[in-house]
Amino acid sequence: MDKSKRKPLIAGNWKMNGTYGAATVLVQQISNLFEKDWLDTVDVVICPPFIDLKPALSVLEFDKVNICVGAQNVYWEESGAFTGEISVNMIRDLGCGCSIVGHSERRSLFGETNEDVNKKVRALVADKRRVVYPIICVGESLALREEGTYLDYINKQVDAAFAGMDSFDVDGCVVAYEPIWAIGTGRTATPEQAQEVCHSIRCKLAELFGDDTAQSMRILYGGSMNEGNAELLLSEDDIDGGLIGSASLNAKSFINIIKAAL
Ligand code: PGA
Repeated sequence: MDKSKRKPLIAGNWKMNGTYGAATVLVQQISNLFEKDWLDTVDVVICPPFIDLKPALSVLEFDKVNICVGAQNVYWEESGAFTGEISVNMIRDLGCGCSIVGHSERRSLFGETNEDVNKKVRALVADKRRVVYPIICVGESLALREEGTYLDYINKQVDAAFAGMDSFDVDGCVVAYEPIWAIGTGRTATPEQAQEVCHSIRCKLAELFGDDTAQSMRILYGGSMNEGNAELLLSEDDIDGGLIGSASLNAKSFINIIKAAL
């Protein structure tokens, strides 16, 4: 399957930014600038903080704009004494269509391990209605890049995230390659650097699940993607979209990145 068969996906990760009011304004601005027929060619996701999921969904529902709303994180248990956590069922019931899993900030600041990531992915794909799909983040530190061992490290992250799953389970999953040294730093990976890793991830997926699954799974790039560099990154063979942090907090920039994927 060639790249044109994979629908590009542009996802905004708002991280811990804004307030309830500011989030409502931002989603309204995005909705106003968004043209509905773009959805024929590109899928769009926004991932606001948990408390802003509902207002974001309400604005988009009122405007009849089919942008998907996703969580930035999720917990693998169904319910119970897990103070501060949010379950898959909770976000599904609210109307979320996806969740970021294993973002490098969760891994480095909150101690999330490859095993935790695996449990989250399994919890998300367990419901065969497949309403909530994971965007699984992987990526290396600057030290690993300089050491030259990054492909091996990333392949292990992919392996671990999907442990115990088959091609049926992983249908609809998305992988996001986000080099830690490029996140929030303004230092974007070059299209060649990003393509090298995304291609290696696709080869790993082929090894795990076969060629069909590997060719149909979307792989995103994230790390200082913006309206100036998106088009070149998105033109690479194995880059099917972007996971965008800072630039997704500005409606015009986010819209321009979506346009670069059309
Ligand atoms: P950035 O963040 O675009 O601000 O680098 C990307 C991400 O962390 O998902």
